[in-house]
Amino acid sequence: MTMIPSLLDKNSWNKEDLITLLKAEGPAMEMMLQRSAQTRERYIGNKIYLRGLLEISNICSKNCYYCGIRYENRNIRRYKMTLEEVEKAVRFAYEQGFGSVVFQSGEIEAQPFTEFVTRAIAKTKDISGGRLGITLSCGEQSDSVYRQWKEAGAHRYLLRIEASDPDLFKKLHPTDDIHNLHRRMEALRGLQRMGYQTGTGVMIGLPFQTLEHLANDLLFMREFDIDMVGMGPYVMHRDTPLFEHRHEVPLLKDRISLSLKMIAILRLMMKDVNIASTTALSAIDPMGKIMGMKAGANVIMPNITPAKFIGNYNLYDNKPYVDLYSNASRLTMEKEIENQGFKIGFDEWGDSVHYRQRTGS
Ligand code: 5AD
Ligand code: SF4
Repeated sequence: MTMIPSLLDKNSWNKEDLITLLKAEGPAMEMMLQRSAQTRERYIGNKIYLRGLLEISNICSKNCYYCGIRYENRNIRRYKMTLEEVEKAVRFAYEQGFGSVVFQSGEIEAQPFTEFVTRAIAKTKDISGGRLGITLSCGEQSDSVYRQWKEAGAHRYLLRIEASDPDLFKKLHPTDDIHNLHRRMEALRGLQRMGYQTGTGVMIGLPFQTLEHLANDLLFMREFDIDMVGMGPYVMHRDTPLFEHRHEVPLLKDRISLSLKMIAILRLMMKDVNIASTTALSAIDPMGKIMGMKAGANVIMPNITPAKFIGNYNLYDNKPYVDLYSNASRLTMEKEIENQGFKIGFDEWGDSVHYRQRTGS
């Protein structure tokens, strides 16, 4: 406890400070979460923004060792939604006042997929008269593809770096041209240069991961001057190579508290960025997403993928699913958020304040 209060009063933290903060437990950790909540309130207010998440395709050319939809997993059925299915879900998000949608997919660089996403963006603009915000999370693509999607109307892009440490990255991915940390960083830089609100993130509580790695991840986000972050706990998947290392994964409760501390510290470091409270948090604790919001997150991405595809987008085991097409579950979700004293930013884009400051827009 002794070091934490004085560290919290600082305005900039080096790696050693961050490691100390990541070790905080009990009252010291509570104090940190409170300080983060105050920072959020002061710099960006108490609104939670909703992004309707559509998992438009689980076709993936990559083989990340941790992910359930990796290319070599033959135990799932591959799908790509039709444009009509996308249209229906987008219309639903719009009618519910979700404010934005996120199109997420496996990573594939192919012309028909590029065109499909472009059409989905255009359709979304059309349906909502330009009033729905559009975030993409479709992996590494060429600059020309990123440009095409931006011109079609996407304005935010999430590309998680997964692990910013080169050695850790290598332990989580095959060593080849498409799994390359440098290439991934270049793609992220390209997105930022092109004018996207740019988001990244990492997994927390991975085998082989140390507190130093996590501290460096935070420094990476700050140095990159990122606008949005989505980070959450690593959750095992039995049909992946990393499952072999399940005994080296921190306990569930430790992965939760480490994730909350990462959110809180990032909020202290980057006061006006958008931070998502991720689904992976709910996968290991039913209250996970709420805890993430209380720790400083201001965005959630309720899943509106049609039910028939859901079982085939399991990035990890026990991925939770709430059927938001049911009025009762939607109201429950909204009540849970409002009961914590938050307001939901219905019909708002909820753009990253940091982006506006950074670009003067
Ligand atoms: N546990 C937690 N997050 C995962 N992701 C993929 N597999 C897992 C897992 N087993 C995350 C990655 C990816 C995002 C779409 O899902 O960070 O970028
Ligand atoms: Fe594909 Fe992304 Fe999963 Fe890697 S993490 S296998 S790129 S969907």
